[in-house]
Amino acid sequence: MSSTATALAHANIAFIKYWGNRNTELRLPVNGSISMNLRDMDTRTRVTFDPSLGEDSLTLNGEPQVGHALERVHRLLSRVRAMSGLRHFAAVDSENTFPMGAGIASSASAFAALSLAASTAAGLALPERALSRLARTGSGSASRSIPAGFVEWHTGSTHEDSCAASFASPQHWDLADCIAIVSAEHKATGSTQGHTLAPTSSLQGSRVESAPQRLEICRTAILKRDFTALAEVAELDSNLMHAVMMTSTPPLLYWQPATLAIMHAVQRWRGQGTPAFYTIDAGPNVHVITQQPHVKEIEGRLRQIPGVKDVLVATPGGPAQIV
Ligand code: DP6
Repeated sequence: MSSTATALAHANIAFIKYWGNRNTELRLPVNGSISMNLRDMDTRTRVTFDPSLGEDSLTLNGEPQVGHALERVHRLLSRVRAMSGLRHFAAVDSENTFPMGAGIASSASAFAALSLAASTAAGLALPERALSRLARTGSGSASRSIPAGFVEWHTGSTHEDSCAASFASPQHWDLADCIAIVSAEHKATGSTQGHTLAPTSSLQGSRVESAPQRLEICRTAILKRDFTALAEVAELDSNLMHAVMMTSTPPLLYWQPATLAIMHAVQRWRGQGTPAFYTIDAGPNVHVITQQPHVKEIEGRLRQIPGVKDVLVATPGGPAQIV
């Protein structure tokens, strides 16, 4: 008999970034990270374990996938088979509501939704920590898309204790992420490869060493709803990660001219009293974080910057869920 489950998970944006692993295979990170889930930036995934299938299969937005993407999904399914004792192969059908490969971590929502759907279809009722761990092995940032709202991924030292937990609900703070799309093309160097280059930068050591202080400042700023403190620490952390990227061998330079234009504009707007800060992942797009009453203003201003192709808006999102 076949067994099916469908799950939905949100993407997330990190205010303190994950960059570099101590254990690549298990995705044990060198530093902790903090993020906010993004409502309406979703992956919806259906997993069907079926005794009649001869191999695992994957479709992404209706397109059958082979090669690396399928291999990554297969590895996660195999982990679920080992945990559950189930032997059947699975058909995985996944849809995203946002562009892939452009620095909006689609792998986060993808592996969070896959972990929940696959473990449920396999008859496992995993608690949140175990789900977050499982998702982490598929994509590090996916560990943070399992719990709700504002989330911290604790570094941990083993597979057992490296997982994410929520420290504030989505309703805690009316933040919004205005994502300025500079390019929706697939990035040249994905984050998985990028993480392996992090130790080649002489700046990575000091970034990692000072991460616990930034985590503390960031967590406290969120808990106290202190926008100014969050803006300062999140821009610093994003700049530090990009400094590491730019100084690794080979160097990773994700910014486009429009990326830098937005960074300057955001700092100017904040100087003039509009709550806004930027944070950038492994791509040219810029996440401009503001408070919900200022979304229209920020969105309008971003659209006027040459090179901005579109602006997507997301508010804090809930946990990964069975649908
Ligand atoms: C820059 O989680 O995408 O977005 O574990 O190889 O899938 P893998 O990497 P991934 O890395 C995310 C890197 C980042 C920062 C962050 O989200 O913390």
